[in-house]
Amino acid sequence: MTEIIDGNEVGDAIRSELDGCVDTLADAGVRPGLATVLMTTDGASETYVSMKQKACDEIGIEGIHEEIDPDAPAERLFDKIDELNEDPDVHGILVQMPVPDHVDKWTVLNRIDPIKDVDGFHPQNVGSLVAGHARYKPCTPHGVQKLLEYEGIDTEGKDAVVVGRSDIVGKPMANLLIQKAPGGNATTTICHSRTDDLGEKTRQADLVIAAAGYPELVDGSMISEGTVVIDVGVNRVEADNEKGYELVGDVEFESAKEKAGHITPVPGGVGPMTITMLLYNTVKAASLQEDVDVELP
Ligand code: GUN
Repeated sequence: MTEIIDGNEVGDAIRSELDGCVDTLADAGVRPGLATVLMTTDGASETYVSMKQKACDEIGIEGIHEEIDPDAPAERLFDKIDELNEDPDVHGILVQMPVPDHVDKWTVLNRIDPIKDVDGFHPQNVGSLVAGHARYKPCTPHGVQKLLEYEGIDTEGKDAVVVGRSDIVGKPMANLLIQKAPGGNATTTICHSRTDDLGEKTRQADLVIAAAGYPELVDGSMISEGTVVIDVGVNRVEADNEKGYELVGDVEFESAKEKAGHITPVPGGVGPMTITMLLYNTVKAASLQEDVDVELP
């Protein structure tokens, strides 16, 4: 029997534990604050940011939302980051990616105060993660790690294949999987767009994490019986419905489900976990900056 992993259920369990952390901070007179900054009119990015803000509101995190005209000079974004870095009510800053082409992404990542970098994308935080002392684990890979933990899936000694090498998911995911730590200790292969014979690599895996950003790239013929399949993809593909599109993952769910031991659906798998771990990092950021101990889940 294939087990369908429910990201909403695991996300809710973690969020209810985070509620307790928010209460502890409130007792100390601290309300965590998260600033989201959007410099795009891309519909998917707008949706993600509004979901992040809604989740903050539900748990008692103060959400601050800033929008910058995508045609404005890059300095406008840099100045906004400086202002948020200085604001004591803001514990976390998230600039939704991607930013427009004329804005240098590397400058953006470096500009955010590392203690407020709840995405974990600042080079200082990336370095800490690689060194095995992560302060803020990037939300999506951290969410995948938590999903596996809550499902009782041990990664130790397993062959893991990460499909995709993005800075947001693929690279940090692989780094978490190789750490000598719980949720790590996996023999990890990173595959990408230049990999020869992807199926040959994924078929020898116990755990496949698909995060390449290509709709239904991994199908049932590319995985072996009993494999754990985690689908990070969220792709909009044209559909004959009211919206004109539907969401599909990087995994062809129907064929992969026939082979997988465990599999995450899209939507309702990794997505809710990404948002949950953003709340987690924001609570952690407030705890660190305000010097209030909380017991994180
Ligand atoms: N764009 C897609 N995923 C993410 C994310 O986790 N953080 C930010 N800042 N932008 C994104």
